[in-house]
Amino acid sequence: MIALTYYGHSCFAVRAGGKTLLFDPFITPNELAKGIDASQLRPDFILVSHGHADHLADAAAIAGRSGAMVISTYEVAVWLQGQGVKSAHPMNHGGARSFDFGRVKLTSAIHSSSFPDGSYAGNPCGFVVEASDGGFYYSGDTALTTDMRLIGEMHRLDFAVLPIGDNFTMGASDAARAAQWAGVKRAVGVHYDTFPPIRIDRDAARSAFKAAGLELLLPKIGETIEI
Ligand code: NI
Ligand code: MN
Repeated sequence: MIALTYYGHSCFAVRAGGKTLLFDPFITPNELAKGIDASQLRPDFILVSHGHADHLADAAAIAGRSGAMVISTYEVAVWLQGQGVKSAHPMNHGGARSFDFGRVKLTSAIHSSSFPDGSYAGNPCGFVVEASDGGFYYSGDTALTTDMRLIGEMHRLDFAVLPIGDNFTMGASDAARAAQWAGVKRAVGVHYDTFPPIRIDRDAARSAFKAAGLELLLPKIGETIEI
């Protein structure tokens, strides 16, 4: 079992391999997450899927306070070092590496990636994380892609974290197919409700998963679930 805490939009933390991993920190600019105090977070690692502000707005500040190592694509890791991040580990798609909490593999994502200043941020990614407590796939912002079948073929995972907001990423029915291809029965939905174009009907989203024999989990902002 892995403990997962949701911080709104695509930001969540997991406790894996005795460490805290924070994904895609976007808290202080998020109206819906104003109950979360980003300055209190002390992750051991910060994993960033791409350069868009709604995935890294708080990354440099949280890394500065916590000393967390950032794991991301080469371009994002180098850019964050330029923003003052002391410890950043660059990777690229298809590459895997063992860290002290477990193993991380960078997966492809069909999306775009630029920094808040408009500069080139490489290609966006997702992550497969495998630790002694369990394994999961966080797709990052992406369209549904048959590459996800490989994840189910090559890994035994417990759950996925998938965008469901549509418009900029997969919507719920495509995300349900992504979960099937990744070989998981349960998924945590992210990247919805934050902005008007990605507001969703939660019951319809849950139904899309249920119709596929899957469960969609939608933890409240600040809630921790065991999965
Ligand atoms: Ni994006
Ligand atoms: Mn996004």
